[in-house]
Amino acid sequence: MPAVTTTDRRAVTEAPIEEILSMRWSPRSFDRDAVVTDEQVTSLLEAARWAASASNSQARRFIVGRRGTATFDRIEQHLMGFNRSWAPNASLLVLAIAVTAPEDPEASATPYRWSEYDTGQSMANLASQAHALGLHAHPMGGIEVEAMRQEFDLPERYVPITVTAVGTVASPDLLPERYRLRETAERTRLPLDELVLARD
Ligand SMILES: Cc1cc2nc3c(=O)[nH]c(=O)nc-3n(C[C@H](O)[C@H](O)[C@H](O)COP(=O)(O)O)c2cc1C
Repeated sequence: MPAVTTTDRRAVTEAPIEEILSMRWSPRSFDRDAVVTDEQVTSLLEAARWAASASNSQARRFIVGRRGTATFDRIEQHLMGFNRSWAPNASLLVLAIAVTAPEDPEASATPYRWSEYDTGQSMANLASQAHALGLHAHPMGGIEVEAMRQEFDLPERYVPITVTAVGTVASPDLLPERYRLRETAERTRLPLDELVLARD
């Protein structure tokens, strides 16, 4: 069977949007032989670093491992269910952590109420940068939060949110059927008039 390429899964949009937004998608089939360079990893992290955050609190931290390193293996073993079968083929795993409170509560009037939002913003930036580098990113919420916290000896106020797999997309033929079909299916979203509650 010829390999199907799924590198173009452009979103069908109701109005033009930037190509980097329409072309980004989250594959599960990654090329196990591909590597990301140190420079690429730094670019991805810079993109995450420069995302907006509430009061510029930057209430997010990252733990990053390239495949073949101990850090990659430590992140990988706390992925849940099916994530554990496909994500290890990626070239890089990025654990995104929300910092839910400042180290010294006296020094700040409010807890970091928007830390999960801030973390998501940074990972969206990272995904866009991955696309710009010719890579793909796939976020996963299916992770063992407590085990991850213990693995990396994180304090209570550091909450693991997602692990994002980054790498080079590979043929969907490498996946079991159920997931192979998802890899090539049309990408869908709620229509704007369902998504937007009010618009004048
Ligand atoms: C916070 C978050 C958690 C997710 N968790 C998982 C996950 O555990 N496993 C998985 O295969 N995909 C996961 N996804 C990927 C979504 O299923 C995917 O983004 C969605 O179906 C839209 O597809 P697209 O990214 O290709 O546009 C997650 C995405 C986000 C943003």
